[in-house]
Amino acid sequence: MIIVIDFGSQFNQLIARRVRENGVYCQVEPTDISIEKIRKMNPVGIILSGGPSSIYEKDSPSIDKSIFDLGIPVLGICYGMHFMVHALGGSIKRAEKREYGFAQLIVKEKKPLFTDMDNQFQCWMSHGDSAKELPKGFVVTASTENTKVAAIANHDKKFYGLQLHPEVEHSVNGSLMIKHFLFDVCGCEKNWTMKSFSDGAIAQIKDAVGDKKVIMGLSGGVDSSVAATLIHKAIGKNLYCIFVDNGLLRQNERKNLEESLTTHLDMNIKFVDAKQMFLTALKDVTDPETKRKIIGNLFIEVFDAEAKKIDGAQFLGQGTLYPDIIESKSAFGGPTSIIKSHHNVGGLPERMNLKLIEPLQLLFKDEVRKLGLELGINEDLIWRQPFPGPGLAIRIMGNITEERLNILRRADTILLEEIRAAGFYRKLWQSFAVLLPIKSVGVMGDKRTFGNCIAIRAVTSNDAMTADWAKLPHDLLGKISNRISNEVDNINRVVLDITSKPPGTIEWE
Ligand code: XMP
Repeated sequence: MIIVIDFGSQFNQLIARRVRENGVYCQVEPTDISIEKIRKMNPVGIILSGGPSSIYEKDSPSIDKSIFDLGIPVLGICYGMHFMVHALGGSIKRAEKREYGFAQLIVKEKKPLFTDMDNQFQCWMSHGDSAKELPKGFVVTASTENTKVAAIANHDKKFYGLQLHPEVEHSVNGSLMIKHFLFDVCGCEKNWTMKSFSDGAIAQIKDAVGDKKVIMGLSGGVDSSVAATLIHKAIGKNLYCIFVDNGLLRQNERKNLEESLTTHLDMNIKFVDAKQMFLTALKDVTDPETKRKIIGNLFIEVFDAEAKKIDGAQFLGQGTLYPDIIESKSAFGGPTSIIKSHHNVGGLPERMNLKLIEPLQLLFKDEVRKLGLELGINEDLIWRQPFPGPGLAIRIMGNITEERLNILRRADTILLEEIRAAGFYRKLWQSFAVLLPIKSVGVMGDKRTFGNCIAIRAVTSNDAMTADWAKLPHDLLGKISNRISNEVDNINRVVLDITSKPPGTIEWE
């Protein structure tokens, strides 16, 4: 296994992901991990992540320096490289010019990290500090225009440093650098698969839960279904699932879910109809965060009431994924980066005095899908596009009424029918209709109309942390537009959202 030391970079889970993509098991560990624990874990290599601090700052993160005496390879990335340089007797300086964004990496020594790469290629940088004097035994292996020391190596000790971020997709050859570190430097074996993850997770759940009961909210989406299946495999009938119909679901969703969940997953599932309660609470609410809070709180209330009926439950299962966690809390615990309050993270456990079981919390969506297939879950369910907890409420700009919900449902059904028929459903991360709060003038059958407007939102993404607007064929867009304006009462205009994330988010609210 490989240990990734977390110096606070928002990308440290991406590092872990790049390692696992190569079939190598890795774990992200905090800086206060003891050297004894590291020894016990017996890693074949250590990666020191980047981080927001500067090495000479008071309280900058640090780890026991004897990791450099373990006799195993170490790769330091950005702050991790500064830490390595500083710890081994070199020095760091504030760079004259902060380097952020793309840069051209000029390679001086190819082996081992830059093997089979061009002499020059694009990389992605984000740093203020850089290495000044290198410790004994190190050489510079690559530079950029601004940063002389962009990569370093001590070949004897197998210590390597990268100022660039190989873990982000913007760095050409980044994954290949990590691959070379894993296989050529550390001699890793490719033996970590979703099967081994799933076996490990099931054993851990069994161990943690014993013969106690777990309750869990199901949304019908892939995350909660996979998490529930995993927990079900571990504890069987001691898992009690609850599905809350909040009235904000898509057309036929409840029926489809009922069928697919009960047919494919042989579990205890209770369906609760709370439609009226949600619609009443949302009457005349237009502010996005207020909507989210109301839905989140009400969900907790309904769920809490149902859960109380299950005697002796001590655990709450959740299908939380890694992107949910970093977007809901700041990666560094600060207040600034809260983007949206996701209704499925936090809240429930404190109130209900339950311990959390979140078996997917270190996985990204594509990994969860692989895991779901491994667990034998039906492909239709696995390939469902994500649907947000607050449902159609955050796709209706402005007032949520039964009538507006029905308009959106019809438009959304048409959109999805056409996307599926054209073979795009699985290629897109999400595709859906949004009902706008404006009306515009149109003409139909020689008559003036003054109707509502639908926006088409379709994006591609790997993990929802970033997304591109999908370049759908014009004839498909034309067909969707035609059908929506002809078949849905009160819609006389259809527009296309061509915003990526960032700066937009995928959902409109
Ligand atoms: P945004 O709009 O933040 O969405 O770019 C990223 C991904 O998360 C989904 N999403 C949610 N999922 N509860 C959820 O379970 C929520 O409150 C929520 N809000 C957004 C969204 O559909 C997209 O896939």
